[in-house]
Amino acid sequence: MWIIPAYNRKAVRHELAMVRILLSFFTCIVVLPLAQGAEAFPYSDRGRSGMVASAHPLASQIGVETLKQGGNAVDAAVATTLAISVVEPFSAGIGGGGFLLFYEGKTNTIKALDFRERAPLAADPQMYLDQTGKVLPRASTVGYRAVATPGTVAGLYEVQRRYGALPWRQVVEPAAKLAAEGFPVSWRLAQAIQRSPILQDAAARDIFSRDGQQGLEVGDRLVQRDLAHTLHQIGNNPKSFYTGTIARAIARTMAQQGGLVTLTDLEQYRPIWREPVCGTFQQVTVCSMPPPSSGGVHLLQMLNLLAETDFKRLGWHHPDVLHRMIEGMRIAYADRAEYLGDPDFVAVPVAALISPAYAQQRRQDINPKVATPSNQRRPGNPDRLWQLNRESNDTSHLSVVDQQGNAVSLTFTVNLGFGAGVVVPGTGIVLNNEMDDFAIAPGVPNAFGLVGNQANAIAPGKTPLSSMTPTIATEQGKLRLVTGSPGGSTIITTVLQVVLNVLVYDMDARQAIAAPRLHHQWLPDQVRVEQFGFDSLTLENLRQRGHQIEESNSWGNGNIIVRSPDGWLQGAADPRGEGAVAGF
Ligand code: DON
Repeated sequence: MWIIPAYNRKAVRHELAMVRILLSFFTCIVVLPLAQGAEAFPYSDRGRSGMVASAHPLASQIGVETLKQGGNAVDAAVATTLAISVVEPFSAGIGGGGFLLFYEGKTNTIKALDFRERAPLAADPQMYLDQTGKVLPRASTVGYRAVATPGTVAGLYEVQRRYGALPWRQVVEPAAKLAAEGFPVSWRLAQAIQRSPILQDAAARDIFSRDGQQGLEVGDRLVQRDLAHTLHQIGNNPKSFYTGTIARAIARTMAQQGGLVTLTDLEQYRPIWREPVCGTFQQVTVCSMPPPSSGGVHLLQMLNLLAETDFKRLGWHHPDVLHRMIEGMRIAYADRAEYLGDPDFVAVPVAALISPAYAQQRRQDINPKVATPSNQRRPGNPDRLWQLNRESNDTSHLSVVDQQGNAVSLTFTVNLGFGAGVVVPGTGIVLNNEMDDFAIAPGVPNAFGLVGNQANAIAPGKTPLSSMTPTIATEQGKLRLVTGSPGGSTIITTVLQVVLNVLVYDMDARQAIAAPRLHHQWLPDQVRVEQFGFDSLTLENLRQRGHQIEESNSWGNGNIIVRSPDGWLQGAADPRGEGAVAGF
């Protein structure tokens, strides 16, 4: 994920780094394949019976085995989600929250579940400002005060209880076992340990360091005994997280460490079923997450804005297409900053924002040839630049399809790498820093450079605005695709481009997820393009139209499952990450 620069101060000591790199290389190429066995991943990226795509092979494996044991897509999604919490503790977990879409094959209906974190009851709009109203550095990102009430366990239990086929305990146990037995640390995990403040936390050091000091390295075995025990307890009684021993451990530590989440916050936590937002794009019904995520609304808004673009004639990545895409992104993110927030607290004009008529009206504003500077779109705060290290991707997405044609698209997170950088002692739970997704003051960018306003101001019990965009598309009453990605503010534009790649350009799953991406979010006024993803003539053309181009390391770590009309599934995990597809 992107981490603010204060974390990023590891000036590399050269020789040591070289030795480490060589060791890591040796471990990746020689030790890991031996340790895991050449037969360790006997699954295909094609299948007819079921498929799981996630950010880690061990999680995908647990998911697909759940399907093979008679579990449905919901069972597999829950098992995979919990496994991700074990193998990617930096990206997402039971100390965080998320969103899911569930497509029920037999009724051709889609349901959306919001199990996002909520602001503690003691939260207030000034909590990250000093007495003069200035933002306190890192207050909303590091430590217990940055934590919002976690929702993952409640959400998983809610969807599994309603729609799962297996006993709850059976879908929890594989993750508990994985935590107890351990697994080899991957490159992304080792990087996340190094780059986040997690080792400054004593409870975390016991888990994620070798000797109480140096972070675990690639190929080290990560065993999480406390987390295994916590997961066992959850398997026996999911409510233990909210009212039992786990809840008490969280509340006690919070009180000791100046956090705001209390036992009451935990007891009162409820996941919320919501109506997904859906729209039609070229005869395909695209459904995604409604507020308090901004993802679905702006995905549909951008698809609407692009509805009249003659993609096929112009061709893939034609500068005219890219220009329209960028202008569409700019409009959507400007609206996001103004209108989007928790719909239980503010009126969000969802229907208007996703209506083709509104897109039609906003499209008139797009100059087909020349960029419209963001400060002409809406007053903002363009001087504040994105203070981010843009290298990794926390948050985790998974896509699941089962034999009955059901599907789950689920994105969950602890926000920045290792969330608030704290572990509740004795539980192995890494806590989120989702409070930073609020607009902590009007116009002050969050860790993703996103600005917001009153609609996304902090209030007790309120849900911070998200960009997570778990998406499911159907065509003529049949599943067409399941997709999503991490990447903070870039999630929505990543999903947009992946969806266009399949629906417009007929790319297969692998091509669609691998294709280079660009991103604009209104403020800062710049187009981020993945390095080596766009040729120089194209970039020059965009520059001449007035776009500020910034080449950057790649972002996102999505995955996708595409269903062809004959029922075959093809899946792909993002080559930018370490994920895997397991189909059969
Ligand atoms: O909900 C959101 O939009 C963010 N908390 C997601 C964070 C994320 O994707 C981190 N990865 N880059």
